Amino acid sequence: MDRAKLNLDGMNGGIDGTKETGLKKVSSYCSIPDFNDYDLSKLLDKPRLNIERQRSFDERSLSELSIGLGRGFENYEHAHSPGRSGLNTPASSTRNSFEPHPIVADAWEALRRSLVSFRGQPVGTIAAYDHASEEVLNYDQVFVRDFVPSALAFLINGEPDVVKNFLLKTLQLQGWEKKVDRFKLGEGVMPASFKVLHDPDRKTDTIVADFGESAIGRVAPVDSGFWWIILLRAYTKSTGDLSLAERPECQRGLRLIMGLCLSEGFDTFPTLLCADGCSMIDRRMGIYGYPIEIQALFFMALRCALAMLKPDAEGEEFIERIVKRLHALSYHMRSYFWLDFQQLNDIYRYKTEEYSHTAVNKFNVIPDSIPEWVFDFMPTRGGYFVGNVSPARMDFRWFALGNCVAILSSLATPEQASAIMDLIEERWEELVGEMPLKISYPAIENHEWRIVTGCDPKNTRWSYHNGGSWPVLLWLLTAACIKVGRPQIARRAIDLAESRLLKDSWPEYYDGKLGRFIGKQARKYQTWSIAGYLVAKMMLEDPSHLGMISLEEDKQMKPVIKRSSSWTC
Ligand code: GLC
Repeated sequence: MDRAKLNLDGMNGGIDGTKETGLKKVSSYCSIPDFNDYDLSKLLDKPRLNIERQRSFDERSLSELSIGLGRGFENYEHAHSPGRSGLNTPASSTRNSFEPHPIVADAWEALRRSLVSFRGQPVGTIAAYDHASEEVLNYDQVFVRDFVPSALAFLINGEPDVVKNFLLKTLQLQGWEKKVDRFKLGEGVMPASFKVLHDPDRKTDTIVADFGESAIGRVAPVDSGFWWIILLRAYTKSTGDLSLAERPECQRGLRLIMGLCLSEGFDTFPTLLCADGCSMIDRRMGIYGYPIEIQALFFMALRCALAMLKPDAEGEEFIERIVKRLHALSYHMRSYFWLDFQQLNDIYRYKTEEYSHTAVNKFNVIPDSIPEWVFDFMPTRGGYFVGNVSPARMDFRWFALGNCVAILSSLATPEQASAIMDLIEERWEELVGEMPLKISYPAIENHEWRIVTGCDPKNTRWSYHNGGSWPVLLWLLTAACIKVGRPQIARRAIDLAESRLLKDSWPEYYDGKLGRFIGKQARKYQTWSIAGYLVAKMMLEDPSHLGMISLEEDKQMKPVIKRSSSWTC
């Protein structure tokens, strides 16, 4: 059965003439990669960390990188990005080539204000430092996901200690026994957040952590463990200090997280089955099933873990499982989550009720379930990974985080990555508007909002997680733009953010179709809005920093080829 081959060839030059013939001749099925093509042993043989280090730190010098700058921002994955020499000196204010924007200094000051110490050592940043807000809720805690942009900002600025402390502290918390009522959670679960309690009288510091047992909805944060792994790699890459990742406790932490997400069960898909609200979107928003945010982070974490796990007696088995999962996962995601004009047209014409292996419409998606908006939204050129794919249910919504992480992790093929950028440009008003970046698009309203969110008053249309605009996403957009070689898109987005963020006191999110209004219940001085801006700014100024958060395409993992108009242009 040579469909796979045919499609592969079609991609490379169009032996079946698909370029010219447009829709009619394009097959609606996806190619099936020939598994014999994957030489797993080659991957397994690679001495991982050492190779990483040599490639990163030896092969490319920083001077080469600055030459690269002129060539247009490609291939920065290998860049070793040592921090600045002058600690405490905001990178963006020390550069001669750039006029520092006045808000940079303010951002650094605010970021430092949010630092939290445990027994005299900085261990993270609190979510928001908003004294004006009557309700603190849990915004005085250090959230794992929120700390990521702070960590990157500190790494870029040559201050890795807080990142190391954070990684070790959260690792310790992972070792706690976690329970919701009488039910014990998996050993590898990482906290969503933790809080340091200072007792000034006894002069003691204690920590309380939340693994989902206190969270609204009682959902464990699936993303925390993945971010932890991604951050461990970023730290290693940025500092060149391999000793942290090599510590037995870090190796164990990695294995525990891998154990959680690679465990066998009833799954028929390589994607990770999740409860609603298990990630940045931590309230009911209809993302249960196989949300793109988690799948992209999962893919990235698998690749980072593969680079860091030691192939010793305990690690070897995980390495093998990771390699297999990566192959299956990339195939599944690139085939079934990818949507562009062509694919949309194919789904629109799907037959239903197909049975057996010859089925084209494998998940029995009923074309009538395609929402109206997507036909207008889909440009002729461009595409994206949809929100969710499960039996008879495709969530066509756009989610920014998942798509950016798909680019950074090279889950997206280079063609898909460019197509995502095309979409952002083509649908700038919808996805960026006046404040980067919409967390999801479009908003759900009325009856659908009632059913999907359970009438959540915080997630009303065009607010918060329901089509709200989150400045923190700016760093992910910027990193993705640099990776794809389209920094001008990031520049435009940063300019927009700069015109408002300081004036508005660094809100958590904005509301409205264009993101013009400070969010209804948005915190001010939200740390990840501040850090996200700084990271975006510094990365654009010096793209060599991209390497700590980006993974090059794995040549061993052949892309699944699907043709479409957005790929052939
Ligand atoms: C909100 C966000 C979540 C974030 C937390 C702290 O709950 O939905 O993503 O981590 O606030 O900022």
